[in-house]
Amino acid sequence: MAQRPQIVRTIPQLRKAVRSWRRRGKTIALVPTMGALHAGHMSLVETAKKNANRTVVSIFVNPTQFGPNEDFSIYPRHEQQDWEMLAKAKADLLYVPSVPVMYSEDFSTNVEVLGHLTSRMEGSTRPHHFAGVMTVVAKLFLQCLPDMAVFGEKDYQQLLAVQRMVLDLDMPIEILAAPIVREEDGLAMSSRNAYLSPTERTLAPRLYQVMQNVAKELSGGRPVNEALYLGRDWLEGAGLRVDYLEVRDANTLLPLEEYVNDPARLLAAVNLGQVRLIDNVPVYPMH
Ligand code: PAF
Repeated sequence: MAQRPQIVRTIPQLRKAVRSWRRRGKTIALVPTMGALHAGHMSLVETAKKNANRTVVSIFVNPTQFGPNEDFSIYPRHEQQDWEMLAKAKADLLYVPSVPVMYSEDFSTNVEVLGHLTSRMEGSTRPHHFAGVMTVVAKLFLQCLPDMAVFGEKDYQQLLAVQRMVLDLDMPIEILAAPIVREEDGLAMSSRNAYLSPTERTLAPRLYQVMQNVAKELSGGRPVNEALYLGRDWLEGAGLRVDYLEVRDANTLLPLEEYVNDPARLLAAVNLGQVRLIDNVPVYPMH
């Protein structure tokens, strides 16, 4: 059996481990997660291991990024199983802080990335989400002081917002992006897929199929408004309630004019029963 990574639960323990690696000239990558790990997370760990000498994985279900009616209390938590997966992936250290370690009773600070990166799409539906994410990520960065950190493209807005925060606050941390990992039928891996009923699970891959078709239409020269209209229709027809389906500049997330002339990203969130699925795909410009 693979050797399990050491678990630390406090900031001094984390800093001690990182300091001793640093003294030996090792580079360190942090993979921030909320646990309930799956193959998507393992690909983040793989990216970390390829790029750094030591990999720290944090597991913290961060209450401040959940809205009042969201799934914080029922979010899947299986530390033991996560620990075993991280042993197989050969992560070096698992950091599992508690809520009081992360947030003292008089905690009063927010880190916010303002503007178009966070105000629309996930930011419209989940108004306090990104402030919660940026604050906890900034804290994890300062607690661990890694050379680099790995984020998945699955949460595309989050990835761009973290990159912005690091630039704006002069954090000397390189942000590495890892591609979305999908099930065989195309459904993007997510800890929340576990909530899908068997019937919902058979409908869920329609999201990716429709997004690929919309991306093809856009690359083929169909105007943005028309392609999105079609896409929303296809999704609703497949039984997925559309929260948003948007195509944006891939780097700035600014809205596009009539056609896709530069690299773009198609982003969507849909509701299927009680489950909210998000996904995104690249859209290549017309030739
Ligand atoms: O992507 C996630 O799992 C979370 O938003 C993160 C980055 C671990 C912050 O809580």
